[in-house]
Amino acid sequence: MISQITLCLFLLCQLVLAKIKTNHFEDDEATVSIEDSVYAHPQSCELFCDNDSIKKQNLTGIPGRSLVIEAMLRTPMLQLHQSDPDILSILQDRYDLPKGFKGPLVEYDFIVVGAGSAGCVLASRLSDGRKASVLLLEAGKGESLFTGVPALAPLFQQTEYIWPYLMEHQPGVCMGMKNERCYWPRGKAVGGTSVVNYMIYSRGLPEDWDRIAADGNYGWSYKEILPFYMKSERANLKGLSDSHWHGRNGELTVEDVPFRSKLSKAFLDAAKLLGHRKVDYNSPDGFGFSYIQATINKGVRMSSAKAFLHKHKNRRNLHILPKSRVTKILINPTTKTAYGVEFHRDGRLYQIKAKKEVILSAGPIESPHLLMLSGVGPRSHLASLDIPVIHDLKVGETLYDHISFPGLAFTLNSTRLTITAKNIATIQNALSLMQYGDGPMTTLAGVETVGYIKTNISEEVGDYPDIEIIGSCASIATDNGQLVAKGLQLANWLYNDVYKPIENIESFTVIPMLLHPKSRGYLKLKSKNPFEQPALYGNYLQHPKDTATLIASIRHIQKLINTPPFQKYGAKLSTRKFPNCKQTLFDSDAYWECAIRTMTATLHHQISTCKMGPASDPSAVVDPELRVYGIKNLRVIDSSVIPKTTAAHTNAPAIMIGEKGAYMIKNTWGLD
Ligand SMILES: Cc1cc2nc3c(=O)[nH]c(=O)nc-3n(C[C@H](O)[C@H](O)[C@H](O)COP(=O)(O)OP(=O)(O)OC[C@H]3O[C@@H](n4cnc5c(N)ncnc54)[C@H](O)[C@@H]3O)c2cc1C
Ligand SMILES: *[C@@H]1O[C@H](CO)[C@@H](O)[C@H](O)[C@H]1NC(C)=O
Ligand SMILES: *[C@@H]1O[C@H](CO)[C@@H](O)[C@H](O)[C@H]1NC(C)=O
Ligand SMILES: *[C@@H]1O[C@H](CO)[C@@H](O)[C@H](O)[C@H]1NC(C)=O
Ligand SMILES: *[C@@H]1O[C@H](CO)[C@@H](O)[C@H](O)[C@H]1NC(C)=O
Repeated sequence: MISQITLCLFLLCQLVLAKIKTNHFEDDEATVSIEDSVYAHPQSCELFCDNDSIKKQNLTGIPGRSLVIEAMLRTPMLQLHQSDPDILSILQDRYDLPKGFKGPLVEYDFIVVGAGSAGCVLASRLSDGRKASVLLLEAGKGESLFTGVPALAPLFQQTEYIWPYLMEHQPGVCMGMKNERCYWPRGKAVGGTSVVNYMIYSRGLPEDWDRIAADGNYGWSYKEILPFYMKSERANLKGLSDSHWHGRNGELTVEDVPFRSKLSKAFLDAAKLLGHRKVDYNSPDGFGFSYIQATINKGVRMSSAKAFLHKHKNRRNLHILPKSRVTKILINPTTKTAYGVEFHRDGRLYQIKAKKEVILSAGPIESPHLLMLSGVGPRSHLASLDIPVIHDLKVGETLYDHISFPGLAFTLNSTRLTITAKNIATIQNALSLMQYGDGPMTTLAGVETVGYIKTNISEEVGDYPDIEIIGSCASIATDNGQLVAKGLQLANWLYNDVYKPIENIESFTVIPMLLHPKSRGYLKLKSKNPFEQPALYGNYLQHPKDTATLIASIRHIQKLINTPPFQKYGAKLSTRKFPNCKQTLFDSDAYWECAIRTMTATLHHQISTCKMGPASDPSAVVDPELRVYGIKNLRVIDSSVIPKTTAAHTNAPAIMIGEKGAYMIKNTWGLD
């Protein structure tokens, strides 16, 4: 029996091989198999090696046992896997090369570095129509069944699905984090940060993009980018089925979150009482309050990989290589032309050529990191590390981020209004999610509503928000410090003193996010070892206006909570003081400044490190067509090009940038 099967498989293989054409990317009608000469031949690694991926990994499952995962493992569907030591590998998504290929080839038309939010859509569009061959290189692995569960979103910040970056120590901010350093995790997976994010779908307001265009970035006005948002989108939103502002035929599903707590309604009712409008925040008329629109599909995470790569795993001209870490872009120093990349995979070093272009989609930390390692960056900085300078550009010199304050906790006198790990981790809820795509496990870890406000200290004219406030049905205390606090790397002294005492009381938070910080950060190389993270300088709250705006937003949130919709549940600000702020009067401006400086939390929207700008902008790294200045055949296409802060979380913008980038590249090479 076995041997019969083997024989069958063998014959099948022969058949497949026989069908491969000399032109190995074309469809299968032909006769010749792929010759060895077209395969890339790796070398062994000498100088800097990817030791992490070689060394045997210590897989102990998930740090900080998750009740939700335990509940899922008790369902009949997953029972078989209960004893798997590497829980995250259960039903892990795989990306093998298309049939007949035994390894990566020596050259492709395009090489895309990073299969993140932008990289996935880019690779998918470039390989459409089979006119060009594409190699997509990704340092991370395929997503797991559990990364799909919205309720678990914060968990992955403690796993191998992230790059565990730390911001450099900055006195006076992040004081309540471990070692007083802010944690900047970024996604490391096929799907990138869209595999670990909170799934909030947001685009930014017309004013944001029109300001970007007005700086000389032709093609980036709201009117011009909207079609690219809509192209990807497959919206299924209650009350918006006739909206002109949403796409319905794309691949990226955008839906309402099936589970809603009563607090989400209280949030919108309270906003109404304060005069805020209920809006579609992803329409041009977006200044107001709304339920979250989420990148989920029937209650399960819709990553960029699921949306754009899954259906195309068998495209012969799209080769996807996970666990492949790029360390350098190959650039001819004389002609200043990019011609390939160097990467590490399974402890071996590959060099592969790009006939048309190399595209960096490695995100806002690694795209500038790779540019500098390859000789494109500030001249004196590169020279100080003995990196030969190919082109002097201000790579990494601009870095904006969206900081927030997740420290408010409002307690309630009623029960069953908030989510707690204990009450959502039931077999029934696990089955609801897996079978029907609904129930409490579809919650975006408690995040439910969003509102754009203009604080009373804003100097903007018109309806231009300076703060986004995020409503939720959970607080740092509701998961007993297991997920959110660990995701922030909150120090134990702070958690134990302020949040542990309210673990058994229902509580929720409302988070203000500073939309347009005046402070600006930057990043630099620490060494020329590509495996060492760059030094990240957030420069948070350097400008007094930033602190003042956050304090003003806390006042606004307090007004919101003091309205009847919240008061009928007895919502009350927890008055446990941050122990390091004891010298100030609770609820004074000075107290809130201290608290904000203690829990200065990034919402992970680092941008501008490869800033887009016209030739006249000395701080620009790429032009409005995303081509790196001074280097031929090299573009950056990801969130690092966004030149200014916008009222958006950055996943949808990165996907839009991927769409628009693909369109521009196809134009350049006549591929449409
Ligand atoms: C915890 C968290 C929550 C968030 N929540 C939201 C949210 O709710 N809504 C929202 O809109 N945004 C959210 N964001 C932000 C958003 O997800 C990111 O800004 C967006 O995904 C960035 O897309 P990108 O394409 O620029 O980069 P990424 O998606 O980060 O992609 C970069 C990819 O390149 C790979 N890579 C990097 N270096 C290399 C290398 N040297 N070799 C090979 N591969 C490499 C990485 O592994 C990664 O897969 C969140 C982010 C985090 C971290
Ligand atoms: C990494 O591995 C290489 C080769 O296997 C070895 O020479 C080097 O010392 C290692 N480096 C570190 C930091 O472990
Ligand atoms: C794996 O890690 C755990 C906890 O981090 C540790 O207790 C254990 O000894 C490690 N096992 C190996 C084989 O390194
Ligand atoms: C803004 O509102 C706060 C109270 O909510 C008040 O103390 C402050 O004076 C106001 N500031 C301005 C500039 O109106
Ligand atoms: C909670 O407090 C509010 C306001 O004080 C009150 O109206 C309500 O009855 C209380 N509910 C419970 C269950 O105690």
